[in-house]
Amino acid sequence: MERSEGQNRDLTRRLYDGPAGAVLALASAVSLHEPLIGQLLKAPPPGRGEERRPPRFDVTRFRDVLDVGSGAGQILGHLIREASPDARLTAFDLSKQMLRRSRRRMEARSVRHGHEPGYVAGDMLRMPFVDGAFDCVTAGWVLEHLPDPAPGLEEMARVLRPGGRLLLLCTADNVTGQWNSRTWKCRTYNPDELAAACAAAGLPWVRRHHLSPVHKALKFGGIIVECERVADEPSPPQPR
Ligand SMILES: C[S@@+](CC[C@H](N)C(=O)[O-])C[C@H]1O[C@@H](n2cnc3c(N)ncnc32)[C@H](O)[C@@H]1O
Repeated sequence: MERSEGQNRDLTRRLYDGPAGAVLALASAVSLHEPLIGQLLKAPPPGRGEERRPPRFDVTRFRDVLDVGSGAGQILGHLIREASPDARLTAFDLSKQMLRRSRRRMEARSVRHGHEPGYVAGDMLRMPFVDGAFDCVTAGWVLEHLPDPAPGLEEMARVLRPGGRLLLLCTADNVTGQWNSRTWKCRTYNPDELAAACAAAGLPWVRRHHLSPVHKALKFGGIIVECERVADEPSPPQPR
């Protein structure tokens, strides 16, 4: 049975407000997702005689970063540690309870790194931010909670400046993805379908990432992509 947008939102909010949301941080730690995402944002240690290499997804280049579907702060925690000291960080989530859990988890880290993120509750389909408010959006394992990716991608494109980047992590349509989809009551994505939806929203893929070489070889760990917000096409001149 198809759920309406409101029914889908209520079901997702109840899921994360409740016990499943309470164990989310633990599940991300046990599955190694949380530490491996950190490796994506962190500069790798230089080899002997090597120059320091930039991180695979370098967040130091951004000043306004929005983490959509921030959950227990699994990505936010890495942003707090890796972002430039003058960057503004905003955590956004449907579940107020998840935002409370995340704020508690992030307290000590925020003080240590001098980053106090803003915590904002709402639906990613209608975010309370002006157009082009951010130069980076991260969205980990949240788009799969929407039956149709298009409106969510369009909303993320709206709040991104042209040239801004989206780091998108999504559940893939493989064996582990199916299992996650049952556990977290969400859908999965075929990579080609997701790439087409991103391009249609003005967010073409510019780079594909993997959690580790093992994840890449086994095609595990979901779809992780960096997308660039392209400038809107100028509208054709209107007849007078
Ligand atoms: C699986 S958790 C992801 C947490 C974290 N981003 C990560 O990378 O592990 C999904 C989060 O998305 C939130 N979420 C689901 N649907 C949403 C929506 N329509 N708008 C905003 N947040 C949403 C949930 O409340 C939950 O906290």
